[in-house]
Amino acid sequence: MFFENIFKIGFIADLYDRDTRKMEIEDERLLPELLDKYGKIVVVDLGCGTGREFPLLLKSPNVVKIIGIDFSYPMLRIAKDKWASDDRIELLDDDIRSLKKFKRNKIKNKCVFLLLCNTLGNLKETDRKKAVQRIFEKMIPGDVFIAYLRKPKGKGRIWQDRVSIQVEAIEYLLINGLWKVAWDILGKHPNFYYDSKRRDVVVKAGGEELFISHRFTEDEIRELFSKFKTKIIPGKSFWIVVAEKK
Ligand SMILES: C[S@@+](CC[C@H](N)C(=O)[O-])C[C@H]1O[C@@H](n2cnc3c(N)ncnc32)[C@H](O)[C@@H]1O
Repeated sequence: MFFENIFKIGFIADLYDRDTRKMEIEDERLLPELLDKYGKIVVVDLGCGTGREFPLLLKSPNVVKIIGIDFSYPMLRIAKDKWASDDRIELLDDDIRSLKKFKRNKIKNKCVFLLLCNTLGNLKETDRKKAVQRIFEKMIPGDVFIAYLRKPKGKGRIWQDRVSIQVEAIEYLLINGLWKVAWDILGKHPNFYYDSKRRDVVVKAGGEELFISHRFTEDEIRELFSKFKTKIIPGKSFWIVVAEKK
Protein backbone atom coordinates (compact mmCIF):
# COMPACT_ATOMS: atom_id res chain seq x y z
CA MET A 1 0.00 0.00 0.00
CA PHE A 2 1.41 3.41 -0.96
CA PHE A 3 -0.02 5.04 2.14
CA GLU A 4 0.11 3.28 5.48
CA ASN A 5 -2.88 4.95 7.08
CA ILE A 6 -5.53 7.29 5.68
CA PHE A 7 -4.84 9.89 8.38
CA LYS A 8 -1.39 10.41 6.87
CA ILE A 9 -3.08 11.97 3.83
CA GLY A 10 -3.22 15.78 4.08
CA PHE A 11 -6.75 16.39 2.84
CA ILE A 12 -8.17 13.63 5.09
CA ALA A 13 -6.61 15.44 8.08
CA ASP A 14 -8.17 18.74 6.94
CA LEU A 15 -11.53 17.04 6.40
CA TYR A 16 -11.36 15.38 9.80
CA ASP A 17 -10.56 18.64 11.51
CA ARG A 18 -13.24 20.62 9.71
CA ASP A 19 -16.07 18.16 10.09
CA THR A 20 -15.49 16.54 13.45
CA ARG A 21 -15.11 19.82 15.29
CA LYS A 22 -18.85 20.05 15.79
CA MET A 23 -19.30 16.40 16.62
CA GLU A 24 -19.35 15.01 20.06
CA ILE A 25 -19.29 11.31 20.84
CA GLU A 26 -21.91 10.78 23.50
CA ASP A 27 -19.91 8.22 25.48
CA GLU A 28 -17.04 10.70 25.84
CA ARG A 29 -19.10 12.72 28.29
CA LEU A 30 -17.98 10.21 30.91
CA LEU A 31 -14.32 11.09 30.43
CA PRO A 32 -13.92 14.02 32.89
CA GLU A 33 -15.61 11.94 35.62
CA LEU A 34 -13.31 8.99 34.91
CA LEU A 35 -10.18 11.16 34.95
CA ASP A 36 -11.06 12.98 38.14
CA LYS A 37 -10.51 9.85 40.25
CA TYR A 38 -6.76 9.82 39.92
CA GLY A 39 -5.49 13.09 41.39
CA LYS A 40 -3.00 15.18 39.39
CA ILE A 41 -2.30 13.31 36.18
CA VAL A 42 -0.50 13.54 32.88
CA VAL A 43 -2.72 12.36 30.04
CA VAL A 44 -1.01 10.53 27.20
CA ASP A 45 -3.44 10.90 24.30
CA LEU A 46 -2.47 8.08 21.93
CA GLY A 47 -3.51 8.81 18.34
CA CYS A 48 -4.43 12.35 19.40
CA GLY A 49 -4.97 13.41 15.79
CA THR A 50 -5.84 17.09 15.53
CA GLY A 51 -6.30 17.40 19.30
CA ARG A 52 -10.09 17.25 19.11
CA GLU A 53 -10.24 15.96 22.68
CA PHE A 54 -7.84 18.43 24.30
CA PRO A 55 -10.49 21.00 25.33
CA LEU A 56 -12.59 18.28 27.00
CA LEU A 57 -9.56 16.85 28.79
CA LEU A 58 -8.39 20.26 29.98
CA LYS A 59 -11.78 20.81 31.63
CA SER A 60 -10.53 18.54 34.36
CA PRO A 61 -8.42 20.57 36.83
CA ASN A 62 -6.47 17.38 37.58
CA VAL A 63 -4.99 17.19 34.10
CA VAL A 64 -1.67 18.99 34.50
CA LYS A 65 -0.38 18.11 31.07
CA ILE A 66 -1.37 16.34 27.86
CA ILE A 67 1.17 14.51 25.74
CA GLY A 68 -0.47 14.01 22.36
CA ILE A 69 1.05 11.23 20.28
CA ASP A 70 0.34 10.57 16.61
CA PHE A 71 2.22 9.24 13.59
CA SER A 72 0.41 11.40 11.03
CA TYR A 73 2.26 14.57 10.13
CA PRO A 74 -0.88 16.30 8.68
CA MET A 75 -2.95 15.55 11.81
CA LEU A 76 -0.16 16.75 14.12
CA ARG A 77 0.37 19.88 12.03
CA ILE A 78 -3.24 20.91 12.66
CA ALA A 79 -2.88 20.13 16.38
CA LYS A 80 0.32 22.20 16.47
CA ASP A 81 -1.30 25.19 14.76
CA LYS A 82 -3.95 25.26 17.47
CA TRP A 83 -2.01 24.33 20.57
CA ALA A 84 1.64 25.37 20.10
CA SER A 85 1.30 28.30 22.50
CA ASP A 86 -0.27 26.24 25.31
CA ASP A 87 2.43 24.95 27.65
CA ARG A 88 0.13 22.22 29.01
CA ILE A 89 0.32 20.48 25.63
CA GLU A 90 3.26 18.54 24.22
CA LEU A 91 3.01 16.85 20.82
CA LEU A 92 5.07 13.85 19.86
CA ASP A 93 5.44 12.23 16.48
CA ASP A 94 5.50 8.56 17.44
CA ASP A 95 3.91 5.22 16.55
CA ILE A 96 1.72 3.62 19.21
CA ARG A 97 2.94 0.17 18.13
CA SER A 98 6.48 1.01 19.20
CA LEU A 99 6.38 4.19 21.36
CA LYS A 100 10.10 4.68 20.78
CA LYS A 101 10.17 8.40 21.54
CA PHE A 102 7.84 8.42 24.52
CA LYS A 103 9.86 8.45 27.76
CA ARG A 104 7.77 7.42 30.77
CA ASN A 105 10.66 7.92 33.22
CA LYS A 106 10.74 11.67 32.52
CA ILE A 107 7.22 12.04 33.99
CA LYS A 108 6.71 12.27 37.76
CA ASN A 109 2.88 12.20 37.87
CA LYS A 110 0.60 9.22 37.41
CA CYS A 111 -0.08 8.76 33.70
CA VAL A 112 -3.46 8.03 32.15
CA PHE A 113 -3.00 6.62 28.65
CA LEU A 114 -5.99 7.31 26.42
CA LEU A 115 -6.99 5.67 23.16
CA LEU A 116 -10.21 7.32 22.04
CA CYS A 117 -12.54 7.10 19.10
CA ASN A 118 -11.89 3.40 18.39
CA THR A 119 -8.38 4.22 17.16
CA LEU A 120 -7.27 0.74 18.27
CA GLY A 121 -9.98 -0.65 15.99
CA ASN A 122 -8.41 1.06 12.98
CA LEU A 123 -5.36 -1.18 13.38
CA LYS A 124 -5.02 -4.71 12.04
CA GLU A 125 -5.40 -7.49 14.61
CA THR A 126 -1.65 -8.12 15.04
CA ASP A 127 -1.02 -4.38 15.38
CA ARG A 128 -3.78 -4.05 17.99
CA LYS A 129 -2.01 -6.67 20.10
CA LYS A 130 1.37 -5.01 19.51
CA ALA A 131 0.05 -1.59 20.57
CA VAL A 132 -1.63 -2.87 23.76
CA GLN A 133 1.53 -4.79 24.69
CA ARG A 134 3.74 -1.75 24.06
CA ILE A 135 1.48 0.52 26.11
CA PHE A 136 1.53 -2.05 28.92
CA GLU A 137 5.36 -2.09 28.84
CA LYS A 138 5.55 1.70 29.00
CA MET A 139 3.19 1.97 31.97
CA ILE A 140 4.39 1.77 35.56
CA PRO A 141 2.23 0.22 38.32
CA GLY A 142 -0.60 2.58 39.19
CA ASP A 143 -0.85 4.03 35.67
CA VAL A 144 -4.17 3.67 33.90
CA PHE A 145 -5.07 2.91 30.31
CA ILE A 146 -8.53 4.01 29.11
CA ALA A 147 -9.61 2.82 25.67
CA TYR A 148 -12.84 3.62 23.81
CA LEU A 149 -13.61 0.61 21.61
CA ARG A 150 -16.62 0.26 19.33
CA LYS A 151 -19.24 -2.34 20.16
CA PRO A 152 -20.24 -4.91 17.53
CA LYS A 153 -23.20 -4.43 15.24
CA GLY A 154 -26.17 -6.71 15.50
CA LYS A 155 -26.53 -7.32 11.81
CA GLY A 156 -24.33 -6.97 8.74
CA ARG A 157 -24.24 -3.48 7.39
CA ILE A 158 -23.37 -0.61 9.65
CA TRP A 159 -26.29 1.56 8.59
CA GLN A 160 -28.82 -1.01 9.81
CA ASP A 161 -27.88 -0.46 13.41
CA ARG A 162 -28.17 3.20 14.29
CA VAL A 163 -26.01 3.38 17.38
CA SER A 164 -24.79 6.94 17.26
CA ILE A 165 -25.52 9.49 14.62
CA GLN A 166 -22.35 11.37 15.44
CA VAL A 167 -20.09 8.38 15.00
CA GLU A 168 -21.85 7.34 11.82
CA ALA A 169 -21.38 10.84 10.51
CA ILE A 170 -17.63 10.70 11.15
CA GLU A 171 -17.46 7.44 9.31
CA TYR A 172 -19.53 8.86 6.50
CA LEU A 173 -17.08 11.71 6.11
CA LEU A 174 -14.17 9.34 6.12
CA ILE A 175 -15.86 7.32 3.43
CA ASN A 176 -16.29 10.48 1.38
CA GLY A 177 -12.61 11.22 1.83
CA LEU A 178 -11.81 7.69 0.84
CA TRP A 179 -13.97 8.03 -2.21
CA LYS A 180 -11.62 10.75 -3.40
CA VAL A 181 -8.54 8.70 -2.53
CA ALA A 182 -9.91 5.72 -4.41
CA TRP A 183 -10.73 7.80 -7.50
CA ASP A 184 -7.64 10.01 -7.58
CA ILE A 185 -5.09 7.39 -6.75
CA LEU A 186 -6.53 3.99 -7.53
CA GLY A 187 -9.03 5.01 -10.21
CA LYS A 188 -11.58 2.67 -8.58
CA HIS A 189 -14.83 2.94 -6.63
CA PRO A 190 -14.50 2.22 -2.93
CA ASN A 191 -16.64 -0.55 -1.54
CA PHE A 192 -17.95 -0.17 2.02
CA TYR A 193 -19.17 -3.25 3.88
CA TYR A 194 -19.30 -5.03 7.21
CA ASP A 195 -17.25 -8.24 7.42
CA SER A 196 -19.16 -10.08 10.13
CA LYS A 197 -16.54 -12.81 10.50
CA ARG A 198 -13.77 -10.34 11.32
CA ARG A 199 -16.25 -7.84 12.81
CA ASP A 200 -14.63 -5.11 10.72
CA VAL A 201 -16.25 -2.27 8.83
CA VAL A 202 -14.05 -2.32 5.73
CA VAL A 203 -13.51 0.15 2.93
CA LYS A 204 -11.89 -1.52 -0.03
CA ALA A 205 -10.96 -0.33 -3.52
CA GLY A 206 -9.45 -2.45 -6.26
CA GLY A 207 -8.58 -5.24 -3.83
CA GLU A 208 -6.82 -2.84 -1.42
CA GLU A 209 -8.17 -2.27 2.08
CA LEU A 210 -8.16 1.49 2.59
CA PHE A 211 -9.69 1.58 6.05
CA ILE A 212 -10.93 -0.78 8.74
CA SER A 213 -12.92 -0.11 11.88
CA HIS A 214 -13.09 -3.15 14.13
CA ARG A 215 -16.01 -3.97 16.44
CA PHE A 216 -14.93 -5.51 19.75
CA THR A 217 -16.69 -8.13 21.86
CA GLU A 218 -16.36 -8.17 25.64
CA ASP A 219 -14.53 -11.54 25.54
CA GLU A 220 -12.08 -10.23 23.01
CA ILE A 221 -11.34 -7.20 25.18
CA ARG A 222 -10.79 -9.43 28.24
CA GLU A 223 -8.24 -11.44 26.25
CA LEU A 224 -6.54 -8.39 24.73
CA PHE A 225 -6.21 -6.77 28.17
CA SER A 226 -5.47 -9.97 30.11
CA LYS A 227 -2.31 -8.51 31.66
CA PHE A 228 -4.25 -5.64 33.22
CA LYS A 229 -6.81 -5.32 35.99
CA THR A 230 -9.67 -4.33 33.74
CA LYS A 231 -13.10 -2.83 34.15
CA ILE A 232 -15.35 -2.64 31.09
CA ILE A 233 -18.06 0.03 31.14
CA PRO A 234 -20.72 -0.44 28.46
CA GLY A 235 -21.44 2.91 26.81
CA LYS A 236 -24.01 3.57 24.12
CA SER A 237 -21.86 2.71 21.14
CA PHE A 238 -18.48 2.13 22.79
CA TRP A 239 -17.00 -0.12 25.43
CA ILE A 240 -15.07 2.08 27.83
CA VAL A 241 -12.15 -0.04 29.00
CA VAL A 242 -10.43 1.13 32.18
CA ALA A 243 -7.28 -0.96 32.58
CA GLU A 244 -4.83 -0.59 35.46
CA LYS A 245 -1.33 -1.94 35.59
CA LYS A 246 -1.28 -4.34 38.54
C1 LIG B 1 -9.90 8.28 14.37
S1 LIG B 1 -8.52 9.37 14.55
C2 LIG B 1 -8.83 9.90 16.21
C3 LIG B 1 -8.18 11.21 16.54
C4 LIG B 1 -8.52 11.76 17.94
N1 LIG B 1 -8.12 10.86 18.99
C5 LIG B 1 -10.01 12.06 18.07
O1 LIG B 1 -10.64 11.45 18.92
O2 LIG B 1 -10.49 12.89 17.32
C6 LIG B 1 -7.21 8.20 14.73
C7 LIG B 1 -5.81 8.83 14.88
O3 LIG B 1 -4.88 7.81 15.24
C8 LIG B 1 -3.68 7.97 14.52
N2 LIG B 1 -3.00 6.68 14.44
C9 LIG B 1 -3.44 5.56 13.83
N3 LIG B 1 -2.53 4.57 13.95
C10 LIG B 1 -1.49 5.10 14.66
C11 LIG B 1 -0.24 4.57 15.10
N4 LIG B 1 0.11 3.31 14.83
N5 LIG B 1 0.58 5.38 15.79
C12 LIG B 1 0.24 6.66 16.06
N6 LIG B 1 -0.93 7.22 15.66
C13 LIG B 1 -1.78 6.45 14.97
C14 LIG B 1 -4.13 8.52 13.17
O4 LIG B 1 -3.07 9.19 12.52
C15 LIG B 1 -5.28 9.44 13.58
O5 LIG B 1 -4.83 10.74 13.81
